[in-house]
Amino acid sequence: MKDSTKEKAKGLAHSLKAAISDRWFHDITDRLDGLLSEIKTRFKDEDDHVIFRQLPEARPMTMSLTEALSLRKSRRTFSDEPLSDADLATLLWAADGITHDGGKRTTPSALDWQEIDIYVLKSNGIWHWVPEKNGLIFCELKDIRSETIIAQPTIHIAPAHIVYVANRARTESFVSRLGEKVIDKVKPRGFDSAKIEEMRERAMTIDVGAKIQAVYLAAATINVACVARTGFDRDRLGELLHLSPEEKVIAVQTVGYAPHSIADTFL
Ligand SMILES: Cc1cc2nc3c(=O)[nH]c(=O)nc-3n(C[C@H](O)[C@H](O)[C@H](O)COP(=O)(O)O)c2cc1C
Repeated sequence: MKDSTKEKAKGLAHSLKAAISDRWFHDITDRLDGLLSEIKTRFKDEDDHVIFRQLPEARPMTMSLTEALSLRKSRRTFSDEPLSDADLATLLWAADGITHDGGKRTTPSALDWQEIDIYVLKSNGIWHWVPEKNGLIFCELKDIRSETIIAQPTIHIAPAHIVYVANRARTESFVSRLGEKVIDKVKPRGFDSAKIEEMRERAMTIDVGAKIQAVYLAAATINVACVARTGFDRDRLGELLHLSPEEKVIAVQTVGYAPHSIADTFL
């Protein structure tokens, strides 16, 4: 290729990248407005309590991966000390943070569906994570932390629970519909719609698993105690989060600080 053609191609690629990035920022503003009004409707907020709260940037995590993997473990005793915003932001960024302007995430998802929504339950209410804005939408002033627990008394004291919700509607993307059409035509080894649905369910669960491990590793790095949990009534939790039939709670991850003493856990 001639040098001038190369330069032109480079310039074009640069402008295209800038345009995509610009579009992405516009999309995000639209998405935040859309999310705010959707949550307002869903949580029947007539008094305009639904607001966006900016979080600080995630803390730098400089521990080696070898050390973080070695330190990772489940902890089930907590202090009631509130989780700092910086620590919460670090865990949420690990679970579902933006790594590039194009909207790429810290954790993978099947066909890049990005179908997992994250809620945070704290004593001061229900919050919805907005990765593109590194912040939380306040949904409702209701402490529903105990609704995530079955027969695990030490967990009640924990200051926060991260709730992973899969939104099946988002798995109906253009690419997946196209893939399904091809499968439908070719019918490779008897692949039918039930098998496609099973694959979809499996992918959504695995996408949550990736987030859970990322949070475990981040928690080990910043010395936060955490435990992943599936032991809860998912229907009850779904009701309290006002989820649509397309949305399902997959898992909860409880986070907080280790107790300073035994008295700190139970008193
Ligand atoms: C999908 C999943 C569900 C889990 N559910 C619970 C749970 O409901 N309650 C609990 O205390 N721990 C739960 N755990 C934590 C496991 O018990 C824990 O990972 C296991 O005992 C190994 O311990 P470690 O994480 O310290 O390596 C769950 C872990 C996973 C991955």
